[in-house]
Amino acid sequence: MLFAETETLDIAPGAVLLRAAVEPIAAELVAEIERLVARSPLRSVMTPMGKPMSVEMTNCGTVGWVSDRRGYRYEVNDPLTGGPWPRMPHLFRNVATSMADRVGYPGFEPDACLVNRYSPGSKMGLHQDRDESDLSQPIVSVSIGLPITFKFGGTRRTDPARSIVLRNGDVVVFGGASRLAFHGVGTLRKGVHEVTGGCRYNLTFRRV
Ligand code: SIN
Ligand code: FE2
Repeated sequence: MLFAETETLDIAPGAVLLRAAVEPIAAELVAEIERLVARSPLRSVMTPMGKPMSVEMTNCGTVGWVSDRRGYRYEVNDPLTGGPWPRMPHLFRNVATSMADRVGYPGFEPDACLVNRYSPGSKMGLHQDRDESDLSQPIVSVSIGLPITFKFGGTRRTDPARSIVLRNGDVVVFGGASRLAFHGVGTLRKGVHEVTGGCRYNLTFRRV
């Protein structure tokens, strides 16, 4: 499948931003999100420290990322419904595989997609994605809707982080030397976007 051939920007070794790469299909991605949240709803979760996270989340795929007082982990069943997570839509899988391929990670087959919904005031502190057993595979992160400031640092929390505004349809792929890079996003500001209204979605594709 072919997505927009757009500008790419190297963020760090192994980390690339594909500017507006899925902008033409952003509305279709939102339609898929709406279908899957009808089955496994977006929900607020607690960190292991007992603080509520400001983003709402759900998952699709064979495993889903969960957080509660017992820690961060992947689960085959949605703790809210007790049943399996919704299947990963073909469109999602195609996006993840082709974006990874485009920047030098051929054969990426995600088994998990975390869906985050940011409303005004939501943010995500600096963290590493390190709950996956397969660190040879990259992370593919898709932004939909309102813009937000993305921070991308090094593999130590104290490494300097660069800031980049992520907009609708932007895709960040990070693997290799950046697979365990610290990253996060600033606070979502109020706004209206034609595809999502007053919110932002992030899709994070991972091979667990
Ligand atoms: C995350 O890395 O957990 C989210 C990043 C984003 O929302 O762009
Ligand atoms: Fe992350």
